[in-house]
Amino acid sequence: MSTVAAPRSPIAAPRRKGPNLEKWGWIYMRASGVLLVVLIFGHLFINLMTGEGIHQIDFAFVAGKFATPFWQWWDVIMLWLALIHGANGMRTVVNDYVTHNGARRVLVWALWLAAAFLILLGTLVVFTFDPCIGVTQDSSLWEMCQSVAG
Ligand code: HEM
Repeated sequence: MSTVAAPRSPIAAPRRKGPNLEKWGWIYMRASGVLLVVLIFGHLFINLMTGEGIHQIDFAFVAGKFATPFWQWWDVIMLWLALIHGANGMRTVVNDYVTHNGARRVLVWALWLAAAFLILLGTLVVFTFDPCIGVTQDSSLWEMCQSVAG
């Protein structure tokens, strides 16, 4: 019967020089986890427990939040922390379960590429969001957008 080696047993190959990225990854998961509890539950509380709760969530509600630097930064920090946390967590799962080295490397690369793409896209959306793009006269936003533009 094979057993898992004790966590601190010496490994066959000596560790390469330079920063211990696995250690920093481990610390990142804990530190981002603590911050994510505050950010995610703050997000859920404000969106669902205040005002009219879930009934208030529509385009105007989101546009209002994205017009405020405080919520822009809240959402962007949550996006970055959660995507890096999720990708790094999935990297751990892939490293644990994918035994073929080539497949493992492809999957880990795909994880970071997907995370980087979503971080870029999400950050652009939050900071460049403009509710008046494409608004025509028959839209309920028309007057508000006219006064902002004028
Ligand atoms: C309430 C906020 C969160 C907290 C406190 C939290 C905490 C943690 C911690 C401490 C770990 C490391 C576990 C270990 O090494 O054994 C972890 C792993 C992980 N987290 Fe989170 N996390 C949170 C939110 C998220 C979110 C939003 C995602 C997805 C985007 C996510 C995806 C993952 C994944 C995929 C792993 C790896 C699981 C594994 O190793 O088996 N977590 N989380």
